[in-house]
Amino acid sequence: MTQQRKILVTSALPYANGNIHLGHMVEHIQTDIWVRFQKSRGHECYYVCADDTHGTPVMLAAQKQGVTPEEMIAKVRESHLADFTGFGIGYDNYYSTHSPENEALSRSIYLALKANGKIESRTIEQLFDPEKKLFLPDRFVKGECPKCHAQDQYGDNCEVCGTTYSPTELINPYSAISGATPVLKESEHFFFKLGECADYLKQWTSGSTTLADGRQQPHLQPEALNKMNEWLQGDQLSDWDISRDAPYFGFEIPDAPGKYFYVWLDAPIGYMASFKNLCERINIDFDSWFKPDSQTEMYHFIGKDILYFHALFWPATLKYANLRAPTSVFAHGFLTVDGQKMSKSRGTFITASSYLQQGMNPEWLRYYFAAKLNSKIEDLDLNLTDFIARVNSDLVGKYVNIAARAAGFISKRFDGKLTDVTASQLLPQLQAKSESIATSYEEREYARALRDIMALADIVNEYVDANKPWELAKQEGQEAYLQQVCSELINAFRILTIYLAPVLPELAKAAAAFLNVPTLNWDESTKLLPAGHGINPYKHLMQRVEQKQVDELVMANKENIQAATTADDAAKYEPVAATASFDDFMKIDMRVAEVLSCEKVEGSSKLLKFQVDLGFEQRTIFSGIAASYPEPEKLVGRMVIVVANFAPRKMAKFGVSEGMITSAAGEGKLFLLDVDSGAQPGMKVG
Ligand code: MSP
Ligand code: ZN
Repeated sequence: MTQQRKILVTSALPYANGNIHLGHMVEHIQTDIWVRFQKSRGHECYYVCADDTHGTPVMLAAQKQGVTPEEMIAKVRESHLADFTGFGIGYDNYYSTHSPENEALSRSIYLALKANGKIESRTIEQLFDPEKKLFLPDRFVKGECPKCHAQDQYGDNCEVCGTTYSPTELINPYSAISGATPVLKESEHFFFKLGECADYLKQWTSGSTTLADGRQQPHLQPEALNKMNEWLQGDQLSDWDISRDAPYFGFEIPDAPGKYFYVWLDAPIGYMASFKNLCERINIDFDSWFKPDSQTEMYHFIGKDILYFHALFWPATLKYANLRAPTSVFAHGFLTVDGQKMSKSRGTFITASSYLQQGMNPEWLRYYFAAKLNSKIEDLDLNLTDFIARVNSDLVGKYVNIAARAAGFISKRFDGKLTDVTASQLLPQLQAKSESIATSYEEREYARALRDIMALADIVNEYVDANKPWELAKQEGQEAYLQQVCSELINAFRILTIYLAPVLPELAKAAAAFLNVPTLNWDESTKLLPAGHGINPYKHLMQRVEQKQVDELVMANKENIQAATTADDAAKYEPVAATASFDDFMKIDMRVAEVLSCEKVEGSSKLLKFQVDLGFEQRTIFSGIAASYPEPEKLVGRMVIVVANFAPRKMAKFGVSEGMITSAAGEGKLFLLDVDSGAQPGMKVG
């Protein structure tokens, strides 16, 4: 065997506020195959992951469900782990970024950065939601694109024209949480002086590591390096804002009460924390893996969307905290389904759990993804028709069939015993490919590996057709020859199984039981089963994929949208807000008002434009209740309850709203409030 390596491998940490879908599975399957391959080669390899639990979205999602963030993330972690385990992902540890190890590591890394002069505090202005009383992350501010004037665009970039900007540049911005107009507010933030790290990063991104086995391993793929060069060119690397103000779900920064680490600071440290947790359990020397001169290897499998964090921020963080940098970052492209972005309405936003619940074999998908994966950052398409054809023809038709065609004769005619195959012409052809297939796996060229393996399966099937065991079985005096052919086929199946085992771990396990062998490690591919070796009776190893199953899968994910709203309804009661005093209540001046006119607003599907009489004056008020009141003219003459002392608010291009009409919200609808007859416009509510 080649020299033993020490390898730490990670997949990106999924956010704790979403379901695992087949896009995530591309990444975890890609990583798992690589890890299983390394373990099969006899290397000391650990695979760690965790849920990424911090940040504003998680905090708000928990609030919406009426539970604490801790309760929410504990539940989500269980469901994520169940999904991944269902697909045979074999982590050595699946942890959480909300852990004591991560808190301690985040703090010590931050303090080391500070001691190295890389942290600076600055006062910045940021958009603040005056109703929710929190600073708004870019994605939580919406408004009109400053360039193309498209409505309802996010605070970081326009989905219509693609321009990127800062949320303060939006026209008529509003908070996506409360709808309130955000205000600029000052706050002290901590910055990681990334600008000062440019020289180091130029060197790191274009560099490589010499591995224990002598190979040069580039830190980045060529396409990733090009991308990073664009960013590093012209010294545009700006300092990185790593703090967020309370309320925030995360870790408080040492000596800075009310300031929290931004989720993207502690998320990659979560890789280390998960590993540390594992090390403590199984007694590995954690520190030796993270010393700057460590001879161990560390690889991060990620999607192309988070390259910036892993190829710039993360190596700089490690370097200036006096720790080792990654050996490589391996980025992959995005999953599309039938050539298009996954879509909930088409049913192609397929969740991992729906696939498993459908009773579909996870190894079909592992095989299909592997058959399309390479080392480049290319998008990968799950073509549902091709999926069925590919799995059925390769796995069932070519590979599993080899065992099926030979096993019966060995069991029935030869008491399950194999004969000597050392003179075989067939098997050396399979064994000769061992190292080149290994190289394909090592280089993450899985498509090439599987093409080569299936080409070997073709050779074996030609051998079956040339020798026709079913005819030999009928001929007198061909007993020995029949046993010879079938023994070669069983050996061939065993070698192919070793080659496929990283992709198909469950099938390999069942095959090992059938073959009556304890292990199927890589270097066993160069050996043969000895004469007299007994195999167990063959049970079918893999079913075919049926079109019906795929149709049902797509249907199930269409229904999922309804299921998701039902799940939301489970948390249908908003948690009761924080205690308010009577004085707090009296600050809101609510009045009875009569609706004078009400009409739809052109260019907006949400808004109705009201003219209301408050007794002492008339006002124009916009209210986002159009979906619940399709016939607005019917509201004329009725009484409503209006918040009369909100500052006038500009509603995009539609005009100014002089107050708010109150309504009850629930079950996806809004309900206007009523007042008993006799009440007059202008009366105070309280
Ligand atoms: N929490 C961050 C990662 C922190 S790593 C320290 C995050 N989470 S995520 O849940 O949004 O994405 C997790 C991984 O899944 C990322 O690598 C992302 O690129 C990948 N994918 C998400 N959707 C994907 C596809 N449709 N296709 C392929 N991979 C995709 O980012
Ligand atoms: Zn635009």
